[in-house]
Amino acid sequence: MYFSEEIIAEVQQKNDIVDVISQYVHLQKKGSNYTCCCPFHNEKTPSFSVNQARQIYKCFGCGEGGSVITFLQKYENMTFPEAIKFLAERAGVALPEETNSKANRARENRRARLLEVNKEAAKYYYYILRSSRGDVGMDYLERRGLTEETRNQFGLGYATVSGNDIVAYLKSKGFKDEEIRDSGLASFSEQKGLSSKFWNRVMFPIQDSNHRVIGFGGRVMGEGEPKYLNSPETEIFDKSRNLYGLNFARTSRKKNFILCEGYMDVIALHQAGFNQAVASLGTAFTSGQANLLRRYTTDVLLAYDSDGAGTKAAIRAIQILRETGLYSKVINMKPYKDPDEFIKNLGAEEFQKRIDEAENSFLFRVRIAEQNYDMQDADGRTRFYKEVAGMLSEFADEIERENYLTAVANQYGVSRDGLREQVVKSAMRGEVKALQRPQSAMGADKARADDSKLKPQQLLLTWLAEEPELYSRIKPYITAEDFTDELYKPVAKRFLADLEVGNANPALLISLIEDPEEQSKISALFTTRLDGIETKEERQKALHDILMKVKTNSYEYYKAQSGTDIDAMRKMIEGKKALQELAKTHIFLE
Ligand code: CTP
Ligand code: MN
Repeated sequence: MYFSEEIIAEVQQKNDIVDVISQYVHLQKKGSNYTCCCPFHNEKTPSFSVNQARQIYKCFGCGEGGSVITFLQKYENMTFPEAIKFLAERAGVALPEETNSKANRARENRRARLLEVNKEAAKYYYYILRSSRGDVGMDYLERRGLTEETRNQFGLGYATVSGNDIVAYLKSKGFKDEEIRDSGLASFSEQKGLSSKFWNRVMFPIQDSNHRVIGFGGRVMGEGEPKYLNSPETEIFDKSRNLYGLNFARTSRKKNFILCEGYMDVIALHQAGFNQAVASLGTAFTSGQANLLRRYTTDVLLAYDSDGAGTKAAIRAIQILRETGLYSKVINMKPYKDPDEFIKNLGAEEFQKRIDEAENSFLFRVRIAEQNYDMQDADGRTRFYKEVAGMLSEFADEIERENYLTAVANQYGVSRDGLREQVVKSAMRGEVKALQRPQSAMGADKARADDSKLKPQQLLLTWLAEEPELYSRIKPYITAEDFTDELYKPVAKRFLADLEVGNANPALLISLIEDPEEQSKISALFTTRLDGIETKEERQKALHDILMKVKTNSYEYYKAQSGTDIDAMRKMIEGKKALQELAKTHIFLE
């Protein structure tokens, strides 16, 4: 951590969470909270809630939550230090020099310079395309049907045939040789100095979700290899964590995202009104990109090339999406190769129809698998059904599995029971993926099991955050050790200590953690819903119940460990005493 706790507290205190979040979404006051439709997932009725008193936000739909810092990390894709700096600047808080380590400062400076180089280069290419030296590129883009508006929106440019003018331009802007080299726009050799990597290409600036140029893709004019050349990965350009078009798509407010393969596909789709289209960056789709998408949507439509390579890539992407917990469907592009050609030939309306008819991705996989078998032959059919049974056994969720089983049985005219028998066999043989169940499914099972243990711990801390004065009442019964989750325990420890001195600040606790996913988890500690607790009697009973549950869980937790661990044994015995004590205690509230 580069920032002291005092600084984080000050930055946070001077940036009211409602003010900051209001700059991005339209918040409406509702009771003591502010609400709106969640910017992190798609929904029609608002479940996103900002609590001004506690300086915390939470979505009761998708579970996202945290402090003002978390919000910026997630919404603006900022790193932790970037969020702190942004807020410090916003509120005029001077960040002490020494809070930022030297190495870190150097890194931030380098990143800032690389962003500058890319920005200047994008401006230059943009300008050239629109000058007489850019005629080749301009003709090409016009032939491909891009309007002026589209060309400008995507900041398209042109690298001249000689190419090296960009180097001279960047030097004239004061960039050092190594900065130009490190940006990946030029390579360096002792003999020739810097030589531009891109020439005779239409240039597609690649932007991060905040519209900052982080790299380029360049399409060659005429025949030439490679057809597309991309900037190498740099300190600011991580191909597995960015998506082309996301800077526009993320605010499209459509109920799905369209994932395609090429830059031109994204641009053609946006031009046709499908502004929810994105593409990976000249590499295969990654789980980092799937995670990025998950911030904005639950449904992804694949618009990959209709050839063999495209189909293979689509099947891989489907798996990655599923492992990330996203639903996917496949858009049929036939008889055209890709979305760009499809739209050029059949238009946006036809494409919308294809979206509406998109095929469930599991049934797509089954259909592709079928092509490997001779369905006229009895053996061929048997082997196909066995493969499908194997695919079905991948579903950990029984309802999901049964639904697909029915769908497949109906579509292929086989008996459900026969197919189910095969699925069971296949799962038992474990020959297929049953063992490598997708992470999300495993996570979900575990989450359900953990939930009943963690919920009371969350409720208790939420309650204390809401009514810190309760602390003195329950203090005799509870310790930080009762929070058995490894992430919760240190937070509870600190929070209880803060309550002890009458200085509890949950938002700060959240912000002291750098990882945004962990921040969400911690914020659940302070934002769990306390439903249906109104009257004094209800409150007393609920509090007692929650305490009992927390204590019981903690007792059982330490009991399970106490066989080998003396410390756990002590905690178990103490826990048992506290539990007995608590059981006969009546907690009185005002
Ligand atoms: N690509 C790449 N390097 C290549 C070829 C392709 O990085 N040598 C990437 C680019 O991101 C490109 C995408 O793969 O946008 C799709 O490639 P392809 O299907 O070959 O191109 P199209 O999008 O159809 O390109 P065009 O329409 O310009 O021919
Ligand atoms: Mn194409």
